[in-house]
Amino acid sequence: MAYRLRPATKSDEPTIWKATMETVWADVPENEKAGLDRRAFEGAFREYADEFVRGDRGERFVAEDEAGRVLGYIILGELRPFFSPQAVAFVYDIWVAPEHRRRGVAQFLLAEAERWAKAHGYRKIKLEVAEPNRGARDLYAKAGYAPERVYMAKALG
Ligand SMILES: CC(C)(COP(=O)(O)OP(=O)(O)OC[C@H]1O[C@@H](n2cnc3c(N)ncnc32)[C@H](O)[C@@H]1OP(=O)(O)O)[C@@H](O)C(=O)NCCC(=O)NCCS
Repeated sequence: MAYRLRPATKSDEPTIWKATMETVWADVPENEKAGLDRRAFEGAFREYADEFVRGDRGERFVAEDEAGRVLGYIILGELRPFFSPQAVAFVYDIWVAPEHRRRGVAQFLLAEAERWAKAHGYRKIKLEVAEPNRGARDLYAKAGYAPERVYMAKALG
């Protein structure tokens, strides 16, 4: 199937909010979830993510099918890594509607993200993924992404 890319609009924001909330909550490690109140967590995340979801920081693109149905979205922007002097393009969020998964929509969105990054002069694109998110990790590996740094953690008591 042929997919189309378009900039997200205000009318896409409810879909983006719902999806990004689900993704970040799913990615919270189990040993942290136990001590978290989901409403408080979502409130704090909403504050952090607001500028990305509204498109004030970075770009938001939607993939749609020929009938104009929303299949998924990607949020991109610039990152200045702590350990490198060079700014890179960064994938802040990628999501595909459950009923449209495993049909190459995320691959399409990533390819478009790379095109956007190159067009804006970036020489590298990065992203972060939760270790247990096997599906996303397989997606990125298939698209040519490789781990660079490993974020390690130890629960204290
Ligand atoms: C991860 C996600 C974006 C993948 O979207 P998608 O459109 O289904 O992915 P694609 O169809 O482009 O998959 C391309 C390849 O990635 C791998 N892949 C994707 N989803 C996978 C899964 N659930 N399990 C294993 N491999 C998977 C496969 O190699 C797949 O190729 P194949 O279908 O020919 O085997 C989607 O599952 C999603 O929205 N998940 C919830 C949000 C999320 O976790 N986002 C990532 C945050 S870092």
